[in-house]
Amino acid sequence: MKLRNAMMFVLAMGVCGVANAAAEYVIKYSHVVADSTPKGQAAIKFKELVEKRFPGRVEVEVFPNSQLFGDGKEMEALLLGDVQILAPSLSKFSKYTKKLQVFDLPFLFDDIDAVGRFQNSAKGKELLTSMQDKGIIGFGFLHNGMKEFSANVPLRTPADAKGLKFRIQASDVLEAQFKAVGANPQKIAFAEVYQALQSGVVDGAENPWANIYTKKFHEVQKFITESNHGVLDYMVIANQKWWAGLPADIKAGLSEAMTESIAYGNKVALTEDDDFRAKVIADNKAKVIPMTAAEKQQWRVVMKPVWRQFEGEIGKDLIDAAEQANTKPAPEKKATEHPKHKAKK
Ligand code: LMR
Repeated sequence: MKLRNAMMFVLAMGVCGVANAAAEYVIKYSHVVADSTPKGQAAIKFKELVEKRFPGRVEVEVFPNSQLFGDGKEMEALLLGDVQILAPSLSKFSKYTKKLQVFDLPFLFDDIDAVGRFQNSAKGKELLTSMQDKGIIGFGFLHNGMKEFSANVPLRTPADAKGLKFRIQASDVLEAQFKAVGANPQKIAFAEVYQALQSGVVDGAENPWANIYTKKFHEVQKFITESNHGVLDYMVIANQKWWAGLPADIKAGLSEAMTESIAYGNKVALTEDDDFRAKVIADNKAKVIPMTAAEKQQWRVVMKPVWRQFEGEIGKDLIDAAEQANTKPAPEKKATEHPKHKAKK
């Protein structure tokens, strides 16, 4: 009996030993949304790529759904070194830079492609280093998608929103956006949104399709208006000091994995936005209503003064550059080879 116990002890130690064989580097990647969203999938892709490249040496722990930190605490946690990688919404950086507020300006971008063009422009890329003096390094922008208004009444014109309470992210621009239509914005952490909508703490919200579907917001809202009035995208970031302290080979490998995982997440965002919309419609819980061009113009007129309100903090040059990204570049002309000019063989 004693021998059997001793053997079981040795076995148990062995199993624990394997489970606890900590990698040399453990990277915590925390976020607040579901695994199946673009951000969730990008984080999983990063883990796969890194662990394949550095087996046993680097381990990436992904924490979705605010499991490790909610969006109220995650930035502090990053700066304290309690988490290494985050991908907060661009609406959540105003404590560290005012420039990123450009992404919250209502009706600035016509669509997600325009957002992408701006992010890939020289001015857009500069924003990735805009928080370096605060110890934050940006690896890249990651899409989720354009936001839709929702409420328990159909929101067609700005007058429909008057007096309603809307959940917003912690952004002064978004606060001003709802105040512009006479609504009452409330800053609420993402993890508490479902409850706030369900209990009637707020009447409405603004979210991209992936977040609406994966967090079941359409089950606690009667109407969703296809407003596409703003964007919800992310910046993938790390603590600069931590990053600087990594060995060169790990840094190079992580950089590559980051680039690849962001490209993957962006592809997911662009291809699956429609699928999430279709799933919301198929669920038949909230009625999805279009916003006509004439209605959109009414919202735009009422909300656009917000741009001017934040111009001093953001910079007019940045707002202009973002607006210019709505213009699609002319397609490159294919050099058509004239038979006469064909090279002689
Ligand atoms: C929100 O708070 O609505 C978003 O930032 C959540 C997210 O990360 O997509």
